[in-house]
Amino acid sequence: MRIYQEADYDAMSRRTAAIIAAEVIRKPDCVLGLATGSTPVGSYRQLVAWQQEGLLSFGTVTTVNLDEYRGLGPDHEQSYRHFMRVNLFDQVDIRPDRTYLPDGLAADPEAECRRYDALVESLGGTDLQLLGMGHNGHIGFNEPGTAFIRETHVVDLTRSTIEANARFFQKKEEVPRQAITMGVGTIMSARRVLVAVSGADKAEAVRRAFCGPITPEVPASILQLHRDVVLVGDVAALSGMREEGVFQ
Ligand code: F6R
Repeated sequence: MRIYQEADYDAMSRRTAAIIAAEVIRKPDCVLGLATGSTPVGSYRQLVAWQQEGLLSFGTVTTVNLDEYRGLGPDHEQSYRHFMRVNLFDQVDIRPDRTYLPDGLAADPEAECRRYDALVESLGGTDLQLLGMGHNGHIGFNEPGTAFIRETHVVDLTRSTIEANARFFQKKEEVPRQAITMGVGTIMSARRVLVAVSGADKAEAVRRAFCGPITPEVPASILQLHRDVVLVGDVAALSGMREEGVFQ
């Protein structure tokens, strides 16, 4: 595993964006696995700036996102499709028909999960998968549990996630109760995994993921078995690993 320790969120974002940009320049028709959440926002902003400066092009890039809420259409402000459009897709030269997320409105969610895995396979797999990490070590919506789930699947959101999301919705009934997420098998099949973490509140999750036992109780710990992981974190998020003596 290669670790980049950066001073703060901005430096972490720039480093993460540089690794994504390097992939796009190395392989202009690459398949990027993308994430939502607060962590990658700064990296997307940097990629937009570099693309607008003409340093790289997303013209032949394909993207597959990790997850989407069930019940939210692409125009819903809280959908991950909307997030991706606002933070990246609408601001760069990517072809909209080459950007994929699970369909949150699919009438048959199980069939949608199978379609999504088949799609990733038909694209030849993911070249670079960007991941954030939850405080409990989740990746995508793979929450701590008793087993690793390989394939794309439907997850019931935990009560705390539903409550945390409630602030973004006008009515409580609108808050999604489920999501569709790539499974850990799909994530692990990416040729390279890029994990971005920021903030002291992530330090314990990062330590457990990379210095503790490999267990479905810490879903990100499976990444220890991946042969090409790049971890980019700010000093605060990597403090737990530093205490373990992994690096200075
Ligand atoms: C997002 C995703 C999640 C987030 C994680 C961290 O598509 O799948 O696993 O990466 O919850 O979220 P932030 O970056 O908001 O701390």
